[in-house]
Amino acid sequence: NSYEPCDFVLFGTLGDLSRRKLLPSLYQLEKAELIHPDTTIVGVARHEMELEDYIAEVRANLVKFGDKELCEDTWERLKARLHYACVDMKDIGSYCVLEDHVDPARTMVCYLATPPSIYGDICRGLHGCKIIDSSVRVVLEKPIGHDLESSKVINEQVAEYFDEKQIYRIDHYLGKETVLNLVALRFANSIFATNWDHNCIDHVQISVAESVGIEGRWGYFDDAGQMRDMVQNHLLQILSLVAMEPPTTLDADSIRDEKLKVLKALRPINSSNISDSTVRGQYTAGFVKGEEVPGYLEEEGANTQSKTETFIAIKAEIDNWRWAGVPFYLRTGKRMPSKVSEVVIYFKRQPHNLFGDSFKNLPPNKLVIRLQPDEGVEITVMNKVPGLTSSGSMDLQKSKLNLSFSEAFADDRIPDAYEKLLLEVMLGNQALFVRRDEIEQAWTWVDSILEAWKSSNEPPEPYQAGTWGPVDSIGLLARANRSWYESK
Ligand code: BG6
Repeated sequence: NSYEPCDFVLFGTLGDLSRRKLLPSLYQLEKAELIHPDTTIVGVARHEMELEDYIAEVRANLVKFGDKELCEDTWERLKARLHYACVDMKDIGSYCVLEDHVDPARTMVCYLATPPSIYGDICRGLHGCKIIDSSVRVVLEKPIGHDLESSKVINEQVAEYFDEKQIYRIDHYLGKETVLNLVALRFANSIFATNWDHNCIDHVQISVAESVGIEGRWGYFDDAGQMRDMVQNHLLQILSLVAMEPPTTLDADSIRDEKLKVLKALRPINSSNISDSTVRGQYTAGFVKGEEVPGYLEEEGANTQSKTETFIAIKAEIDNWRWAGVPFYLRTGKRMPSKVSEVVIYFKRQPHNLFGDSFKNLPPNKLVIRLQPDEGVEITVMNKVPGLTSSGSMDLQKSKLNLSFSEAFADDRIPDAYEKLLLEVMLGNQALFVRRDEIEQAWTWVDSILEAWKSSNEPPEPYQAGTWGPVDSIGLLARANRSWYESK
């Protein structure tokens, strides 16, 4: 990794992602003095705009979406880096203006915060004006495709001009502190490293619940659904990190090779097992956090016939030696009672009961990794209740060993995922970015499920906004005498 100056070219700098996430993250990196002093930031959009107006726009965004109070020193430093270039991204001729803003002697990072449908145009335009060479890095946002075939088309368009070593595909979950901590927990602690398989683990639950609905994005969301929006990327990336074999090093390809093997080992879900393995739901009107919200089909711009799912529960199986017989239950939905993402590892029960009839069903140990919010790690253990009893028997109680990040690291701010990812791109480290074969393998698995749903022609099950999804989601686990972990 190298801490060197670069020209950071942000395509789509006036768009939602840039405004809400990327510019505030650059500001935070500036504040932490993690951007090389000589790095420049070139905002690119198709509107004609004077630099001073762009600067005013960036500042207004930072005030709206960043720190409540702007640090003026930081802002002055950030402002001095800003350039603005007006490019019509579909017009090859218009890219030459970039030559005035970038230095060919330095690394250029092109962040495409634009719709994927124009990734190909941008790559062609960059190529056309001859400012790219093998040192250029190109950063791609999701969604990369709608299915395997369309993702291949996008990947091909980009591959025409850039080598895989130059391509950084974002899955912002990989930049979350607690997702990165999965690697630390698993491989820096022998108690976990040695108990992480079918001998010790009964099953795994991965839940990513959101209280928000589709936030005015009907057009995009209805086309995607929760499967493409959340499972194909974020949930499968978490699953891969939880299930992968130890990589030899933390190098980009060591990690990505291991994640890919997990994705390849996922048992296909198709028409033969779809009803046993998946549940999909769509929210109806209800109350979330005390506020009345409309149903999915009543959202602004809704097509009232839509069968798009806003909730999914899946029983996934990984057909390899480590995970034989250990289901991974995935669950994600919009308009759930609260925003909570967690991984819960259920260990196997004790083989024999020493504690008498009242403790016939000793609960299993659980390792709860709270990804967000209230980040932390918790282990449930059975503990003797202190004190004496007339019968002399032992009274047991379930207790928690709890590591809460907000207490343990009270002085440390948890950075936004994009801060980490932007930093890694500038450093030239691909470990937290998704390789082409991973994306395509994930699509292969997801496509088969989508296809099976389509041919079953069944609508998603309704669930009321503000609940944990359709009742069948409970049934998915209850069939095996299991139940979803209930966080506080
Ligand atoms: C995005 C999805 O990728 O992730 C959104 O498109 C979703 O629909 C978001 O709300 C969730 O991200 P986070 O970081 O808020 O958990």
